[in-house]
Amino acid sequence: MPDSEVILRADEITKIYLVGAGVKAVDHLSMEVGRGEFKLVTGPSGCGKSTLLGLLGGLDRPTYGEIYLRDQSYSELSENGLARLRRTEVGFVFQFFNLLNDLTARENVELPMRLVGVQMAEAGDRCADLLSSVGLAERMNHYPHEMSGGEQQRVAIARALANDPAVVLADEPTGNLDSKNSADVMDLFRRLNEERDQTFVVVSHDEAAHDYASEIVHMQDGAICRVEV
Ligand SMILES: Nc1ncnc2c1ncn2[C@@H]1O[C@H](COP(=O)(O)OP(=O)(O)OP(=O)(O)O)[C@@H](O)[C@H]1O
Ligand SMILES: [Mg+2]
Repeated sequence: MPDSEVILRADEITKIYLVGAGVKAVDHLSMEVGRGEFKLVTGPSGCGKSTLLGLLGGLDRPTYGEIYLRDQSYSELSENGLARLRRTEVGFVFQFFNLLNDLTARENVELPMRLVGVQMAEAGDRCADLLSSVGLAERMNHYPHEMSGGEQQRVAIARALANDPAVVLADEPTGNLDSKNSADVMDLFRRLNEERDQTFVVVSHDEAAHDYASEIVHMQDGAICRVEV
């Protein structure tokens, strides 16, 4: 049953930041992400959306609970193992693009491939395909400061897809873009979701983003309070 295959699963995860009296940013949260799903996570500022995304992507570890990518539990992975999982299985897209300023668009997209040992020639070919598919074939040799915000975010999306990840996690990917560029980015996500069966978990409080989702998860105080399908 490939349509119902669960790619990513959080099982009763809690994240407590040890600052002052402690902040419970995520509180006994469980969720499943199916292959090819387009899940939107929304909720008020401080409700734990970014924390949740960081945990799902293995950027940080939960205080309690377990996360699985397919059958691999994160707690069984060493730090190196988790880093490898982040590089190969997860693509991250952030609000402020987070491109390396000293590298061209092409070099930014090639870097994650080079880090996992893809040979130069193959990395170059795949990078050219990816930048073309996000509409930036003409911008390959541009540096981030030579591109618009929307273009920079599309480079970041190409970079996120570099190692053909199981899931793309995007945290407010349109938060720094105007409405036209926001729509372009969300349209691009939809196309990648449909054409490549790429799985997305997107955090956004932009109402316009809701139309793109197959499921909307509403969070409050570190927990899921409502799910719209
Ligand atoms: N590194 C940290 N150390 C301590 N507390 C943190 C840390 N990161 C987040 N928090 C706290 O955890 C809670 C959840 O934060 P988080 O960034 O996940 O919220 P969010 O839903 O992404 O908010 P926003 O919509 O403003 O981005 C907040 O109370 C925040 O202050
Ligand atoms: Mg956030």
